[in-house]
Amino acid sequence: MTKAYKIIDHTYDVVVVGAGGAGLRATLGMTAAGLKTACVTKVFPTRSHTVAAQGGIGAALGNMAEDSWEWHMYDTVKGSDWLGDQDAIEYMCRNAIPAVIELEHFGVPFSRTEEGKIYQRPFGGHMRNYGEAPVQRACAAADRTGHAILHTLYQQCLKHNASFFVEYFATDLIMDDDGACRGVIAWNLDDGTIHRFRAHTVVLATGGYGRAYFSCTSAHTCTGDGNGMVARAGLPLQDHEFVQFHPTGIYGAGMLITEGARGEGGYLTNSQGERFMERYAPNAKDLASRDVVSRAMTMEIREGRGVGKDNDHIFLHLEHLGHEVLHERLPGITETAQIFSGVDASKDPIPVLPTVHYNMGGIPTNYHGEVLRPTADDPDAVCPGLMAIGECASASVHGANRLGTNSLLDIVVFGRAAALRAQELIKPGVTHLSLPKDSADQSLDRLDRLRNAKGARSTADIRLEMQKIMQVDAAVFRTDKTLKEGCTKIDTVRGSLKSDIGLTDRSMIWNSDLMEALELENLMACAQATIRSAEARKESRGAHAHEDYPDRDDATWMKHTLAWFDDKGDVTLNYRPVHTYTLTSDIDYIPPKKRVY
Ligand code: FUM
Repeated sequence: MTKAYKIIDHTYDVVVVGAGGAGLRATLGMTAAGLKTACVTKVFPTRSHTVAAQGGIGAALGNMAEDSWEWHMYDTVKGSDWLGDQDAIEYMCRNAIPAVIELEHFGVPFSRTEEGKIYQRPFGGHMRNYGEAPVQRACAAADRTGHAILHTLYQQCLKHNASFFVEYFATDLIMDDDGACRGVIAWNLDDGTIHRFRAHTVVLATGGYGRAYFSCTSAHTCTGDGNGMVARAGLPLQDHEFVQFHPTGIYGAGMLITEGARGEGGYLTNSQGERFMERYAPNAKDLASRDVVSRAMTMEIREGRGVGKDNDHIFLHLEHLGHEVLHERLPGITETAQIFSGVDASKDPIPVLPTVHYNMGGIPTNYHGEVLRPTADDPDAVCPGLMAIGECASASVHGANRLGTNSLLDIVVFGRAAALRAQELIKPGVTHLSLPKDSADQSLDRLDRLRNAKGARSTADIRLEMQKIMQVDAAVFRTDKTLKEGCTKIDTVRGSLKSDIGLTDRSMIWNSDLMEALELENLMACAQATIRSAEARKESRGAHAHEDYPDRDDATWMKHTLAWFDDKGDVTLNYRPVHTYTLTSDIDYIPPKKRVY
């Protein structure tokens, strides 16, 4: 056990980890409410992955045609393939409208209609009148909506003098003997110092873990850091088997081409020039939900109708939209297509392929953002002092498949909800209990172990092996065989991370190899939870398309998976019930039915 580090102590009412949209919305709300709040982030706030969100934020404003939050809720429940918790979904969809108006008032530069209202476009799975036909619900700032929201929230935080600790990498939670969270340890990447943040509540807003896969639309920073911290703290990860493949990642490069492109009238074709989505989803066609479109594309390729010399991808057509629409509504992806596939989207189709995009699962929470530590007696029991919001969390509003635009919505609605809950629970400035003596030891031991690791394999080499396993064995379609093999292979590469890793730089300052090794431990926990949970789920639901069990099985499997890690890092699974009730009596529970588009 190391004692060599000098630890710098800080005391706050709340510490938010992560400065994407969720972290910033929470930081803003908590700071504005007079809570002494620190936001600890491993990248500069406006570099967080929210910046990459393109097509829009979902809210039934009804600016383009009639719409209602009840229809939005219905679509979200159906999109989730009935794994979403309906109390949380109700909370999100009914709060969507005020959340977007609030963003407008904060200064988000939304695109406008002729009359000056917020512009809204259609998006996959968003329908009018309980599934009748697509509706324009995605509130857009051209195709840079996440960029506009992230910058605006950061400016609002600055206006409220929020405290930021930028380029501080949070390594581990501080848990007390009663199982409550009391703070977080962070490593200052600039000067190598170690910081202990004591707080009444820690809010994890660390984003997804897309980088557990070889090809993804996620930033390199999306390494499941919050999920890793939670796993090491003896808390479970929920529904990790549900990994979303976005239908239109650029072939070979993985960059996102927004679903908003299909919302504006773009469509997919196979090698025969056929608009094949008409066969798979006669009603919604190219605007069916993402899991449905990604599976249809994969089927076309498997059956030999892919495009390109290897028949291994699909075309997305935007040529017919014309310069004005591309320039006004889709400028970002027009540029992305040119840079990353060499295609002038006004003349030629863009080569695309389903690409890992989003994690529906994560740290289980209630709709206030409080982290759950489920027990047999109380599946909704709360872990005191800990919240999680945004993609690292599982509230669970997305269930087995998220609808496009509901992630930007999730981050602002639950960022705000966490701030409201913190105001209820914490009185500003209340004295902190003393911390356990060994509060930093686990984290410092981990840093030391990795810094001094002298094995033969590099971090990058082990990470690549893990990413390739996940890409092949936990893909759009899964089978008993691929998942079983995947579990064995992940166990082997996890063993390699323990015993074979070697770092060359032993310093604490500017040691990006150490940082990547810490991130890899987080990713590995996420990968393990994903493949183990997927192997156990013997049905198909949402993004979990199991070829040996092609149907949804509500009688046995309408339940959330919980993956628990022991001290050795081995996983055991159990389950908790889906919330089959709504939040208020304004709306009835939506019972399961066959999901067709
Ligand atoms: O396609 C997109 O613009 C992505 C949006 C989302 O994931 O919500």
